[in-house]
Amino acid sequence: MNSAVISALANDPVNNTDQKSIIDSIINENRTRPGATMVILNEVQSQIGFISESMQSYIAQTLRVPVSTIHGVVSFYSFFTTQPRGKHTIKFCMGTACYVGGTPQLIEKAKQALGIDMGQTTPDGKITLEVCRCVGACSQAPVIVVDDETLGRVKPSKFPQVVRQCQE
Ligand code: FES
Repeated sequence: MNSAVISALANDPVNNTDQKSIIDSIINENRTRPGATMVILNEVQSQIGFISESMQSYIAQTLRVPVSTIHGVVSFYSFFTTQPRGKHTIKFCMGTACYVGGTPQLIEKAKQALGIDMGQTTPDGKITLEVCRCVGACSQAPVIVVDDETLGRVKPSKFPQVVRQCQE
């Protein structure tokens, strides 16, 4: 096992006493509720900030459900992440109007500007890039969402300014 893998495992919430006890209490408080899996995953995402592969296995084991069920939910909803998000999140709308209106070009610009791929976070932990579904502002395509702010008619040439604002 290389040192990066060892360090990732050591930092994983299931190997951290405090974070593991948060996960355990979320499971214990919610396991008998209707839709328990979704409730638990939502709470873990909100309180811990992400749901790693080993957290998914732990939750599956504790709830006695197949890990594929947990993985299916986590990978389907963009709200869930398997790694911690950066301080700021920039989401690119992949709805039809935005896709046709230029989201792919914006994504290319973002990847070039930051040197990371969709779903990744810059090494300084400041910016995470993600895609999202239609956010209901189709008339302003292409749309990006920076944290909670929706920006419309974004041109690739405007992207460096968006990055600068996130880095300040
Ligand atoms: S398609 Fe992007 S906001 Fe609707």
